[in-house]
Amino acid sequence: MPDPSAVDAQAVEVDLPVGHTRSAFLKRSALSGGALFGGGALLGLPAAAEAHKRHHKHDRDDKSDSVTDIQILNYALTLEHLEATFYVQGLERFDARDLRCADQLRGAGRRIRSSIYDYLILIRDHEVEHVATLQSVIRSLGGDPVPPCTYNFADTAFGSASQFLSVAQVLENTGVTAYDGAIAYVDSPALQTAGATIATVEARHASYLNLVNDDVPFPAAFDTPVAPQQICETVRTGFIVSCPFDLAAFCASLPDEVIAP
Ligand SMILES: [Fe+2]
Ligand SMILES: [Fe+2]
Repeated sequence: MPDPSAVDAQAVEVDLPVGHTRSAFLKRSALSGGALFGGGALLGLPAAAEAHKRHHKHDRDDKSDSVTDIQILNYALTLEHLEATFYVQGLERFDARDLRCADQLRGAGRRIRSSIYDYLILIRDHEVEHVATLQSVIRSLGGDPVPPCTYNFADTAFGSASQFLSVAQVLENTGVTAYDGAIAYVDSPALQTAGATIATVEARHASYLNLVNDDVPFPAAFDTPVAPQQICETVRTGFIVSCPFDLAAFCASLPDEVIAP
C-alpha cells in the first residue's frame, strides 16, 4: 500500500483514454451512472422494497458490524474536506465575472449567469458547515476527526472557470453516490437521518451544477450507491497529493460493497 504522504501531484494523474481530457472523462463517467466508481445496478423500487424486507436486516448485520459509525463519519468528513477546500480555494481564484463568462454559460440566460457566483458561495458555505458539523459529531462520539489533506486542484480544476465548474459537477455527483453507498453502514438511526439530510443537499448541489454545465439536472429515476472504499480510493488517487494520516490504509479499512438486495 503506497504511503499517500509520498505521492506527488504528478504521480496521482489518472490515466485517461487517448483523446480525452481529464475533466471531460470524469464528467462523462460521473454522469453515466457512476461508471468511474463501478456503480451498482439501479433498483426497481417495488422489487427492492420486497427484497429489502427479506434480506436487508441479515445483510446489514453481517456487513456493517465490521465498520464503526465513527469510521463512516470520518469517511464523509474526508469527502467534505475535499469539497469545502475545493470551493474555498476556487472562489478565491475565480470572481463573479470569471464565472459569468465560463464557456458553459455562453448560451445561458442572464438570471443563471448573474447568480452563479452567489450560488457557488452558498454551496461553499454548505460544505464548510458540513465539515464543522461532522467534526463536532465525531468528537461527541469520542472519535478523532480526520484532518484535511493537500489537494491537486491547481493542476486538475483551476485551469479555468470552465474547468472549475466541470470538476464541481463531478464532485457533487460523486458526493451523492458516496452518501447513498455509505448510509446503510451507519448503525445509529439518528445518524442515518442526519446523513440523509446531507445527501439530499448534495443532490441539490449536483442538480444545480448539472444544469450549469448544460446537462440534465436529474438524469435518472434512481441514483447509484457506490461502496465507500471505491469512492475513497478514487478520490485519493484523483485529487489528493498528501495527507497528514495514512489515507490509503483508511480507504482500505472501509466497506468495499454496497448493501443492496
Ligand atoms: Fe457537502
Ligand atoms: Fe456539495
